[in-house]
Amino acid sequence: MLETLSPVPPDPILGVSAAFQKDTSPLKIDLGVGVYKDEAGKTPIPRAVKRAEQELLAAQTTKAYLSPVGHPGFNAQVAELTLGSDLAGRRGELALAQAPGGSGALRLGASLLQLARPGSTVHVSDPTWANHIPLLGGAGLKLATYPYYSAERNALDFEGMIQKLGALPEGDVVLLHACCHNPTGQDLDPTQWAAVAEVLARRRLIPFLDMAYHGLGEDLDRDAASVRLIAKAVPELLIAVSCSKNFGIYRERTGLLAVLCNGSTQAGIVTGHLGRAARTLWSMPPDLGAAIVDRVLSQPELRQDWMVELTHMAQRINGLRSLLADKLSAATDTDFGWIKQQRGMFSRLPLSPEQVARVRDQHHIYMTPDARINVAGVSPNSIEYLATSLATELRR
Ligand code: LMR
Repeated sequence: MLETLSPVPPDPILGVSAAFQKDTSPLKIDLGVGVYKDEAGKTPIPRAVKRAEQELLAAQTTKAYLSPVGHPGFNAQVAELTLGSDLAGRRGELALAQAPGGSGALRLGASLLQLARPGSTVHVSDPTWANHIPLLGGAGLKLATYPYYSAERNALDFEGMIQKLGALPEGDVVLLHACCHNPTGQDLDPTQWAAVAEVLARRRLIPFLDMAYHGLGEDLDRDAASVRLIAKAVPELLIAVSCSKNFGIYRERTGLLAVLCNGSTQAGIVTGHLGRAARTLWSMPPDLGAAIVDRVLSQPELRQDWMVELTHMAQRINGLRSLLADKLSAATDTDFGWIKQQRGMFSRLPLSPEQVARVRDQHHIYMTPDARINVAGVSPNSIEYLATSLATELRR
């Protein structure tokens, strides 16, 4: 039976990490997978996370099952972190389920949509995270795109986006990156978000917000403003939250699916469906990451310390953006100031897949084939080498 399977091509993102590991050059630079890196090039565990984990493990007396919708404390804390302390005024209308990472939350949301309206169409930004289409499509949903980014102008194609959203059929689903757009780093400004919220409400579209980098753009409140605004404008909304990056617990697979429903009765029914869907996908989500996040967010001292480190991460990324933009502008005599305006871990360089391959083979600089770079992987120590190497291709 298994002979029917053909070999799988490398994952567009994880394949870059695998190739980087094999490179023995001392010059190599990894701008591939989206993980935060500190001044030493390491992906740190925040102090508050480490302490919460130690305290939890010391006090733990059982590892018996929780439930298919996970840890109630975690669910409530992360919903509040995302929607704000008044839960966007919709406390009783929330259905919550912990999931294995933001990806698990996306998959669970896709299953819910498939249950509610089989074969629904989800519109994703062009471009979007390389895993969105296979992940959502795997649940049976249809995928389509809306214009988002102009590679020619290195800028948002807001006109194209709003026009397309305004022409979508009622009931279609629109996947939006709440902040720190992956792969472009190009976010909407508050006025543009307000226009999008208005179109979503007017056209009766279902927003599905992906919140994978909360706190790594500007700060916790400004990064969540899009979600809070849309939650006040539409009756139904799905939010997939990842705790991988902002809590530095990537491999603990910790995420939340929050579904805002049209009333509390509907929220109860949706919670039941989320539990049943989770049971058929992974039965129960893993506990440790969620228990850590719950503890960090519920203990004021840990929460404060985590916020200090998160602020440092965001500021460091934004500082690296300025450094990279200035060095690239100087090395190419072209304005790369747009990199400074973008937010989160990613920006996309104006390079073709062939140029990306040459930069990798000749200069040992690794990025995804669509020329997405992880800005957090830039180091002040190797910035001259990085900028002059990239300039050889950017000038072509
Ligand atoms: C990324 O986009 O690099 C991250 O979200 C990691 C992943 O799973 O792709």
